[in-house]
Amino acid sequence: MPPTQIPQTYRVKSFGCQMNVYDGERMAELLAEQGITAAPDGAEADLVVLNTCHIREKAAEKVYSDIGRLRRADGSSPLIAVAGCVAQAEGDEIMKRAPAVQMVVGPQAYHRLPEMIREATGGKRVTDTDMPAQTKFGALPARNRDGRRSAPAAFLTVQEGCDKFCTYCVVPYTRGAEVSRPHAELIDEAKRLVDAGAREISLLGQNVNAWTGEDARGRTIGLDGLIRELAEIPELARIRYTTSHPNDFTEGLIAAHGEVDKLMPFLHLPVQAGSDRVLKAMNRSHTAESYLKVLEKVRAARPDIALSGDFIVGFPGESDAEFEDTLALVDTVRYAQCFSFKYSPRPGTPAATMDGQVPAEVMTERIMRLQAALGRDQTAFNKASVGKTCQVLVERKGKLPGQWLGKSPWLQSVYFEDDVAVGDMVTVELTEGGYNAVSARLLSPVAA
Ligand code: 5AD
Ligand code: SF4
Repeated sequence: MPPTQIPQTYRVKSFGCQMNVYDGERMAELLAEQGITAAPDGAEADLVVLNTCHIREKAAEKVYSDIGRLRRADGSSPLIAVAGCVAQAEGDEIMKRAPAVQMVVGPQAYHRLPEMIREATGGKRVTDTDMPAQTKFGALPARNRDGRRSAPAAFLTVQEGCDKFCTYCVVPYTRGAEVSRPHAELIDEAKRLVDAGAREISLLGQNVNAWTGEDARGRTIGLDGLIRELAEIPELARIRYTTSHPNDFTEGLIAAHGEVDKLMPFLHLPVQAGSDRVLKAMNRSHTAESYLKVLEKVRAARPDIALSGDFIVGFPGESDAEFEDTLALVDTVRYAQCFSFKYSPRPGTPAATMDGQVPAEVMTERIMRLQAALGRDQTAFNKASVGKTCQVLVERKGKLPGQWLGKSPWLQSVYFEDDVAVGDMVTVELTEGGYNAVSARLLSPVAA
């Protein structure tokens, strides 16, 4: 029997990308507005929202094992909602395979959760995977309305969806077409986040640099215009954005990297592969050369920029020689950090049925070689930053007593020991660089 009482406590568990983390926060705020409170750490919640990711196989499988783990000794379960991209892509399948799930809600429909909860506690199993033209944002409660504090480094989704249709990717199907949130709504949300304590805002979008809007004077602006305007908020110290597509990279955004001090010297620009034939088969619509050209320009505008990317190894048909092109590109760029993945066939995507699926052992060998090269460059980048003085935004306590963790402007994790608090912006000298992090010593407690 499903629970019949309106839940009093909730837990939202987000998997996958930062956009899911953002959606998870907004769902939590929505539930709080309904009078449902966050379950204390370790306590069982009446309502569990699994905010899922569908980008690779393992992510989807995890959902089913998580649902299984929610089952109590007496066979009952809390009220379970599956949200996010697995919900969007496999909603019917979830309902069939997991009888304990009462609600399936897609990424564009979660503003309807309160209504769905009422129906679910009335005994119905409800699915909402609509993608309404009117975006959910207008229907959500304003950020931090209930006086809750923001994390010092906050996320703000400015754009959703993707029109690029890379042949391996589910995002255009699960998140829908590219939609930019209106300018005024974003400025308002950013100010609310800053009022609630955010010192850094990361602007999020599947294709964040495709964001476009009309400013207060009716002029059409791009992401660079939005960044310049946000930089005017006095208490906001840092701006970042992710994820970009090489083809939407404008001269204006490149210039902003050289001109806007608050825009951090970090760029995540996925390339996926180094071979032009593979890039074409992936429908990436850029070449290795045009990608490198963008990086060159950004480096010219902001010489200390730290570069990041995404890679897929073992795309169908990728030959040994084509994989070597990926390694060659890595050698050329010298990334500060990267994500790399084995190709995972996603149902419904064109690549899933392409000839030349690469055997698992070849994939493993390639990812190990790629990660060795990326690891080498990441460590070298961290070591090369030793001796630099920079600001660090303190985000949380470290694992060791007295230790704190924050981020450098180049998005390195920086550890140091001193008497500081979460949210402080401190000046440090970087003293030691490793693979994953950099150690530092505090120079001045609070930055000017
Ligand atoms: N298999 C492996 N990696 C994928 N990505 C997206 N789809 C797949 C897939 N089917 C990776 C890409 C993308 C990142 C978010 O996930 O590198 O940039
Ligand atoms: Fe997926 Fe390509 Fe769109 Fe990125 S640009 S979300 S990889 S389809």
